[in-house]
Amino acid sequence: MIAKQSTKTALVTGGSSGISLCVVRMLLAEGFKVTILDLHQGSLQSIDAGPDRLLFIPCDITDWKSVKAAFGQSYEQFGPLQVVVNGAGVYEPVC
Ligand SMILES: NC(=O)c1ccc[n+]([C@@H]2O[C@H](COP(=O)([O-])OP(=O)(O)OC[C@H]3O[C@@H](n4cnc5c(N)ncnc54)[C@H](O)[C@@H]3O)[C@@H](O)[C@H]2O)c1
Repeated sequence: MIAKQSTKTALVTGGSSGISLCVVRMLLAEGFKVTILDLHQGSLQSIDAGPDRLLFIPCDITDWKSVKAAFGQSYEQFGPLQVVVNGAGVYEPVC
């Protein structure tokens, strides 16, 4: 049996700027807790959300090991993910 999850959770790659930052803002406005994986923090300081709602993890998404570790860190902080947005535009990760 799958337990019902009341917390809305999302992870967004490339969420520190551009299109994905807009997606992050929309998710936060909808009550999601959001994890961002990005190379740098970019424009994140412009977002008004505390650590209970927003988790930034520095991560190069072409590095598969780092991506796996980041998903684990997100799980520990916010629990299971409901939404994953692959916003950072890169090619196949090196496995
Ligand atoms: N802006 C547009 O009009 C447009 C149109 C079509 C497609 N796209 C594509 O959509 C994607 C996002 O566009 P954008 O304009 O928001 O770009 P952007 O440069 O503003 O944002 C991309 C984000 O991804 C992050 N990123 C890049 N490589 C990364 C990596 N290896 N690991 C982790 N994070 C990484 C960057 O640090 C940045 O924060 C790009 O792939 C772009 O080519 C953009």
